[in-house]
Amino acid sequence: MIVSIDDLRQRARRRLPRTVFDYVEGAADDGYTVDANRRGFDRYLFRARALVDVSKVDHSTSLLGEQLATPIILGPTGLAGLLAPRGEELAAKAAASRGAIFTLSTMSIGTIEEVAAAAPSPLWFQLYVWKDRDDTRALVERAKAAGYRALCLTVDVPVMGNREQDRRNGFTLPPRIHFSNVMDVLRHLGWVLRMASSPRATFGNFVDHPSLTRTDAVGIARFTNSQFDASVTWKDVEWLRSIWSGPLVLKGITCAEDARKAVSLGVEALVVSNHGGRQLDFLPGAIDVLPEVVDAVEGRAEVILDGGIRRGSDVVKAIAMGARACMVGRPFLYGLAANGQAGVELALDILCAEMDRTLALLGRPRLAELDRTALRVDAPASLEPARSSARRETSTVTPRVGGTLDT
Ligand SMILES: Cc1cc2nc3c(=O)[nH]c(=O)nc-3n(C[C@H](O)[C@H](O)[C@H](O)COP(=O)(O)O)c2cc1C
Repeated sequence: MIVSIDDLRQRARRRLPRTVFDYVEGAADDGYTVDANRRGFDRYLFRARALVDVSKVDHSTSLLGEQLATPIILGPTGLAGLLAPRGEELAAKAAASRGAIFTLSTMSIGTIEEVAAAAPSPLWFQLYVWKDRDDTRALVERAKAAGYRALCLTVDVPVMGNREQDRRNGFTLPPRIHFSNVMDVLRHLGWVLRMASSPRATFGNFVDHPSLTRTDAVGIARFTNSQFDASVTWKDVEWLRSIWSGPLVLKGITCAEDARKAVSLGVEALVVSNHGGRQLDFLPGAIDVLPEVVDAVEGRAEVILDGGIRRGSDVVKAIAMGARACMVGRPFLYGLAANGQAGVELALDILCAEMDRTLALLGRPRLAELDRTALRVDAPASLEPARSSARRETSTVTPRVGGTLDT
């Protein structure tokens, strides 16, 4: 029976080949930050008010001028289409059915246009600035033409994080069967059969790129890996600001200085994020950084918390600390792997029901009116052992040198 995000995770784990599940769980280096994202929430305890009429609870919010049924945003996740055929389209439809925003990754399997055609939901497009700025501009123009509402620039991938488990697993695109994973794949024939109906197993946004020397999945993967640019700076943010007239969102902000700089360049929203612990290890948990960023922007930009949300109560804590909304990555991917669109809808329903129950028990029926008085922010850091650890739970298969494809 599935009643929690963790139940969805267990189901996803059973349905996916280990190599693919490990890719979803993947964390950089020692996994300190992925654990800190969860542990951080334990530092914040509630201050509940009694005898408040909570017969009507409202978790709607507004973000970048739009009224939203829920403060939960499905964050950008590369290769979501490896978890279910047309995975990005299914997740975007699930978001639309629950009034949530879906963010399409540059590194998606479904294309910008396919996902826009599939879902009427408010869509955001997540961008990596490519070495070739004309290619970058082309992505921005495609997103604009397809009706994406906001451009979400990810700023925490100047180089790829070190996800050792993917390297040990020889995680490649297209997924390849080799000696060390053949039994694993055979145990998941259901996934193999489902994926056989997938239109492709590569980065869809680049299949027609004119400079591809090889148009198969390996050639496209090589091309995209070669396009990540370590020289991206604030000048590129200014440039994007000049070519994108809609809301601009920066994802991957973890300190006050960067938050102020972004606001000074006219960025409308910041995502406090450490990429789900997949990039720089030993960053603090995202919730621990949130107050610093909220205080630095002084209401001049909206702040979104991303990383470690597994319960509706986590969303309530983040909103009380000053976030306007929360992004989730793995929670909706677990739902997608567990049961396609219905699984993503279930993930959203679980989080929303938990949010409502928390608001009622807290004596604060309106999410939008939460503030820091709903929390005991000075609670002792009673840190339980980490509730999740990609490092501990990943498999240990024979090390193999292979092309790692990270997003
Ligand atoms: C499998 C996977 C792929 C991801 N790909 C991207 C990506 O392409 N672009 C991006 O900005 N963030 C990417 N992320 C990071 C997520 O957007 C988000 O920051 C992170 O998952 C939040 O942590 P959570 O999984 O604990 O919710 C990815 C995360 C996962 C788990």
